[in-house]
Amino acid sequence: MSLVEKARAILRGNDRGGYAVPTDRLYPFQWNWDSGFVAMGWATFDEPRAWSELVFLLKGQWEDGMIPQIVFHAPSDDYFPGPDVWGIHRTPPTSGITQPPIIAVAALWLLRQARDVAAAEAQAAAMFPALLAHHRWWESARDPQRTGLVATLHPWETGMDNSPAWDVALDRVPTETTTEIRRRDTSHIDASMRPRGVEYQRFIHLVDLFRDHGWDPARMYEASPFRVADIGINAILLRAERDLLVLAERFGSVADRAEIAARIDRLAGGIARMWSDAHGLFLSRDLISGQPIPRPTSEGFLPVFAGAATPARVAAMAATVSVWRERAPWMVASSEPDNAVFEPKRYWRGPVWAVVNWMIADGFASYGEVALGADILDQTRKLIAQAGFSEYFDPTTGEGIGGADFSWTAAIYLMLARD
Ligand code: DGY
Repeated sequence: MSLVEKARAILRGNDRGGYAVPTDRLYPFQWNWDSGFVAMGWATFDEPRAWSELVFLLKGQWEDGMIPQIVFHAPSDDYFPGPDVWGIHRTPPTSGITQPPIIAVAALWLLRQARDVAAAEAQAAAMFPALLAHHRWWESARDPQRTGLVATLHPWETGMDNSPAWDVALDRVPTETTTEIRRRDTSHIDASMRPRGVEYQRFIHLVDLFRDHGWDPARMYEASPFRVADIGINAILLRAERDLLVLAERFGSVADRAEIAARIDRLAGGIARMWSDAHGLFLSRDLISGQPIPRPTSEGFLPVFAGAATPARVAAMAATVSVWRERAPWMVASSEPDNAVFEPKRYWRGPVWAVVNWMIADGFASYGEVALGADILDQTRKLIAQAGFSEYFDPTTGEGIGGADFSWTAAIYLMLARD
């Protein structure tokens, strides 16, 4: 079986009738940003199924525009915390926090790649109001003072749960929980590749707190002891706003376009302030201390994906990637390899992720760093060819780790096989 056939078989195997789980058992529901990438993977061989991925995700969208991190379409005992812990009585049940807003990027990508243009236009037109509502939610709920940076209130929202960038901010979160913690992930995956127990206590403390605040966005924003401007989320949101503006030219009104353009200006200004000369990349900011977080991670390169870097900054980031590569030859490690907190096998504290590579490579190429972009994609293909469709990879050895037969890794492979 060729790798393309294997990647398609993984998506089909993870399909649960209109949406795909990230992988069997470890993640038995629909995850927000996984679905955006997975839709792009489906689009390489099954366009109706690609749109269905996004339509199913939007079944979980809240009236205020929030798109949840998890949509619990069907019950499963394989995951903690399930719908009972979130206590959100909707149909379908969902979690109460969000995830990186890649969906508008996926929708535009599907439209641009479409062979059945009429069907794609109908889908994109129908979806446009939901995407616009989602971007409005990000600004109103997460940047109520219009600072130009949206806040993240839970490490799970960043998608990079145990990133070293969150260590100090997360330390402020108490470890007491009213929910009994019954982790399931460590019965599927070796605990050394997953977040630590104390991090889970803090993750669940935040879930308890937000549930006690009725999942009200304003109350959550005020009450959360964890509030960061995540450079990854802000960069992905800016790219998504730019892509939404392209969609708005076809499917939106003059007023919609003006509104999106104004948000683009605010976000671009906010991201520009996150640059660190000392580190040669962008940093997240702790919104409680007001200070930059001096922990370089791969998401610090994502402003290239958003068109938010100057040529001098792009050159500095390309140099930083090369320095990281000396210590961790498989690009791009998720955190600075030459740092005491680097752990090459522990989830977001070092491993390489195919989706992040795709975004970084796309961004570098768009700035004319074509060779570096191609190199990152080439390494991504090689990692998958030698180690399989793993959830993530050790950047020092290239070993495949975490969950196996992973949907978004398969999706990225299918997108690269088309290049
Ligand atoms: C998990 O449970 O590990 C997920 O990353 C949460 O989104």
